[in-house]
Amino acid sequence: MTSIGILGAGRVGANLAAKLSAAGHHVAIGGRNPDDTAARRGGLAPRIIYADQRTAARSTDIVINATPGDSSLERLAGLRAELSGKILVDVSNATRDAADGLPGDLCYPGSSLAEKLQAALPGTRVVKTLNTMLFTVMTAPETLATPPTAYLSGDDEQAKGTVAGLLGDLGWQPERIEDLGDITTARATEAMVLVVPHVLRRHGFKPFAVSLAR
Ligand SMILES: NC(=O)c1ccc[n+]([C@@H]2O[C@H](COP(=O)([O-])OP(=O)(O)OC[C@H]3O[C@@H](n4cnc5c(N)ncnc54)[C@H](OP(=O)(O)O)[C@@H]3O)[C@@H](O)[C@H]2O)c1
Repeated sequence: MTSIGILGAGRVGANLAAKLSAAGHHVAIGGRNPDDTAARRGGLAPRIIYADQRTAARSTDIVINATPGDSSLERLAGLRAELSGKILVDVSNATRDAADGLPGDLCYPGSSLAEKLQAALPGTRVVKTLNTMLFTVMTAPETLATPPTAYLSGDDEQAKGTVAGLLGDLGWQPERIEDLGDITTARATEAMVLVVPHVLRRHGFKPFAVSLAR
């Protein structure tokens, strides 16, 4: 059982919080206004704690970034002390919106948010994962007709092993978890988001994942 802080109580954060709590982990959701978040999300699971983002990051062992990717670097760099010595699981996508509000261009072409975060937080082990699918699939991979892939990118093998364990708690079979290598490999999975707006425009918000087929 691990204590997990989840920054952002939107679709991704709330979904991950509910499943990780049900798996037995201690979950603290970090929101900008914890009382509002508790009122909105209080039905998720009885044991979830609602706090501000700094408190959630400070008081837990593993922190998940489920906030908007385009502003995550500044926000998380501001939590450097709180994140020091911890694993930061980044599931965000750093994109600029297209005119219709769907993801458009990458914020960090030729690099990635995960690399920027790792450089800004040298005392933190950053692991990128789960950013290549609709949020519903993150916690229910078995619901897709085609078995989906969860990619892992990160410099620290032990941290990736820990995150792979959390993915198991979310329902991922080991053979569907693809460790791509160090944090620079997040460049590839962050770029996969460029496929997403075209899929959503054609098919709506139906569950999908950008996966490897063999
Ligand atoms: N939706 C998906 O299917 C999906 C799939 C893969 C990856 N992602 C990525 O996951 C992240 C979250 O996506 P989402 O769909 O859950 O978004 P969302 O529903 O808009 O939720 C984001 C949450 O982040 C917090 N937040 C928003 N603006 C903030 C700010 N300026 N400073 C601090 N916190 C802020 C808010 O929580 P509070 O109001 O509680 O503060 C908000 O509920 C994004 O980076 C997205 O690209 C999403």
